[in-house]
Amino acid sequence: MPSNGNPLATLLGSHRVLIAVGAGGVGKTTTAAALGVAAAREGKRVLCLTIDPARRLAESLGLERMSTEAVTIDPARFREAGVPIQGSLTVMMLDTKRTFDEFVRKHASTPEKAKRLLGNKLYKYVSTTLAGTQEYMAMEKLVAVRDDPAYDLVLLDTPPTANALDFLDAPERLIDALDSPAMRWFIEAFQESGKVSLNLLAKSAAVVLKTIGKVTGGGFLDDMAAFIVELNDLFGGFKERASMVQKTLRAKDTSFLLVTSPAPMSIREVLYFSERLAEHGMPRGAYIVNRLRMPPPRAGEPPSEPEVRDAVKKHALTLDDDAPERLLRAHADAVKLAALDARHVKALDDASKNAVPIVRVPQLASDVRDLALLGEVADLLIRA
Ligand SMILES: Nc1ncnc2c1ncn2[C@@H]1O[C@H](COP(=O)(O)OP(=O)(O)OP(=O)(O)O)[C@@H](O)[C@H]1O
Ligand SMILES: [Mg+2]
Repeated sequence: MPSNGNPLATLLGSHRVLIAVGAGGVGKTTTAAALGVAAAREGKRVLCLTIDPARRLAESLGLERMSTEAVTIDPARFREAGVPIQGSLTVMMLDTKRTFDEFVRKHASTPEKAKRLLGNKLYKYVSTTLAGTQEYMAMEKLVAVRDDPAYDLVLLDTPPTANALDFLDAPERLIDALDSPAMRWFIEAFQESGKVSLNLLAKSAAVVLKTIGKVTGGGFLDDMAAFIVELNDLFGGFKERASMVQKTLRAKDTSFLLVTSPAPMSIREVLYFSERLAEHGMPRGAYIVNRLRMPPPRAGEPPSEPEVRDAVKKHALTLDDDAPERLLRAHADAVKLAALDARHVKALDDASKNAVPIVRVPQLASDVRDLALLGEVADLLIRA
């Protein structure tokens, strides 16, 4: 990428893995896709691992079916949208259950065990709802593709976690959930003889289990026990992979993009997350303040009453009596909102103490729903 002094242009040129993180709805998916376009335009072969993109964006990328296969977007689409690319953009939708399935197949000690686990009634529930699974599986996928020679750059979108920190701790959290004392006694109790053993701990547990058994039917407990024992088979795998994930996250050519809106709450969250990244020794590439409300043209010098009248006439707007006044008010509001956003971003600027560069992306007039608009965001992200 030509270095134009823009921190994101520099990151795209020098890094292999960029991870977009931030609170829900701030623009992680859009940013990841737009950066993919920016890099592909410069000739890179880009893989964008995306989560649940807005339907219209997915459609305009050519992802009509919610496929989890890697789909390389037809370059003609980009040409038609006026954003020709030299390289390529491949998009893969992250699917937690599917990634978990692949993980089980790869890491179970025997194919039979994998088959049994995948067929267990509880498996589907646990593989999609256990705390941290979605975050962990996104990381898992990242490890799986990060060294793929077919790509020069991997952009990872992250799930809208209620707490952005879930993402960082995902591997540990998942292991904690699976490897908790409660799980362990359960496994021990059942592994002994396939029945609850009669040690003291299990005795009291047995009462609980019997009660559950009454409510849910005995089959449930057998399923549960078999499931946990088989999942246990993967613990070694999880632990080893978790350390690989952590290594990938700290790699020299990995960097985090901290996406935020200008809203104070979102800025507070991203700052907190940023601190945690720093604590964990994970590289922070840039803050991206997205959907910034910009001052209208001539913000310091509002149009005069006659000018507004002229404009209203020229654009054939409805000429009711208070149209000019309403326009002036809208102008004044836009100036105020832009000043408000600028003040909030200044707080981010002050707090970051120049440790991490800040890139500002204005609010577009519409949602980012097609390739042309994605190209526009790409330009805004990497402009000099
Ligand atoms: N600069 C922008 N101008 C206008 N609309 C934008 C801009 N950036 C993003 N959007 C719109 O905001 C919405 C949310 O964006 P996006 O899906 O990228 O957020 P997200 O952080 O991935 O959300 P989630 O946490 O739910 O995954 C989308 O409709 C997108 O088109
Ligand atoms: Mg998203």
